[in-house]
Amino acid sequence: MRQSTTDFDVIIIGAGAAGLMCALTAGQRGRRVLLLERTDKAGAKILISGGGRCNFTNLGIAPDRFVSGNPHFCVSALRRYTQWDFIDLVARHRIAYHEKTLGQLFCDGSARAIVAMLLEECERGEVTLRFGQSISSVSKPDGFRVETSSGVFTAPALVLATGGLSIPKMGATGFSHDLARRFGLRVTETRPGLVPFKAKADAPGFDASLAGVSLEAIVSCGDRAFREAILFTHRGLSGPAILQISSYWRQGASIAIDLLPGLDAAGFLKERKRTRPRASGRAVLAEVLPARLAQALADAHLPPAEMANIPDRVLMALAEHLKGWRFTPPETEGFAKAEVTVGGIDTRDLSSKTMESREVKGLYAIGEAVDVTGWLGGYNFQWAWSSGWCAGQAV
Ligand code: FDA
Repeated sequence: MRQSTTDFDVIIIGAGAAGLMCALTAGQRGRRVLLLERTDKAGAKILISGGGRCNFTNLGIAPDRFVSGNPHFCVSALRRYTQWDFIDLVARHRIAYHEKTLGQLFCDGSARAIVAMLLEECERGEVTLRFGQSISSVSKPDGFRVETSSGVFTAPALVLATGGLSIPKMGATGFSHDLARRFGLRVTETRPGLVPFKAKADAPGFDASLAGVSLEAIVSCGDRAFREAILFTHRGLSGPAILQISSYWRQGASIAIDLLPGLDAAGFLKERKRTRPRASGRAVLAEVLPARLAQALADAHLPPAEMANIPDRVLMALAEHLKGWRFTPPETEGFAKAEVTVGGIDTRDLSSKTMESREVKGLYAIGEAVDVTGWLGGYNFQWAWSSGWCAGQAV
């Protein structure tokens, strides 16, 4: 049976953060928009984000807080549609929000309000939204021709907005990457970002008793450093500082962890040897570190003696470890646990102003599918809003 063909001005594949923003923007400009979603709901990752409260942007959005093969690519989009534009939209919908920490803006209530807002704006733009779509073929005879389980759709513009590879359990696939490749665009190497590190069970510094211990630290890799919390888990290391550095980490590299940021560890231990000579090393460490970590460090680095009887050279070696613990993660927890995908559709093949392919007229890519990855803290949604808006203005 021949399927009927329906014409639109633009077809967007993927009703996540970027696809919804692109759809509502184009729709409100009077474009006839078709938004195709594989699952049965829009914005699934928005709903689970920020512990259900969606960290929808960050007050401190700046291009150097994004990882990309071309660090300048994100500048234009972030300037054209800023965090203030999105905050304005949120305020117009009377969604209450607050700053949690480090400029991170969260809904006071449920992330559902953000999805409802985006859907309401899509409705204002008369966007046609189809769920449960399985795309069987995309071709470009002249404009684009998309065949799905429910029909054949054509449009002069096609937007790839199916996100990255993180959380395959939620249905993440490399759909946009594969399609971009088919149209001749390059795709950079992809790897999990904002992801915990695993540790070998017998790795020095790891001890099952530490699971759940959390403390502020400075974690660095190469010339990048983050001062936030780290968390010992049953499998390795997590916490915001670890997630942040993971986006810069490459297989085989080591990370350095300063467990006592802002404290001169050598000076502190020497001073305590003088002022608390009868105290155990564990008790002294517990003054500045969580008790369980103090115990594990004392067991691993100090003799079972009073401070007065611990040689200076032993205390100095411990101080060095406290200020620059070197850890070489064997691997990350992978895409199953990664909040984002680092890498993606190569920015060299896209216009930074419109997100359109330089070679294939009418083909656009936005959001996490593109090789632009933000820091933890609302940066990735802002990239989705900004890149989605730019494409929505251009299609
Ligand atoms: P996104 O993944 O949101 O949407 C892609 C859409 O395409 C999905 O609806 C998917 O079903 C659909 N799709 C996939 N394949 C398809 C196909 N073949 N056909 C049709 N549709 C298809 N960021 C942030 O800034 N603040 C935060 O608080 C969080 N929190 C957070 C928590 C967790 C657990 C995760 C996993 C991630 C975050 N993030 C985040 C990251 C953020 O969710 C992510 O960067 C954006 O959702 C990316 O938006 P996109 O629209 O590009 O992809």
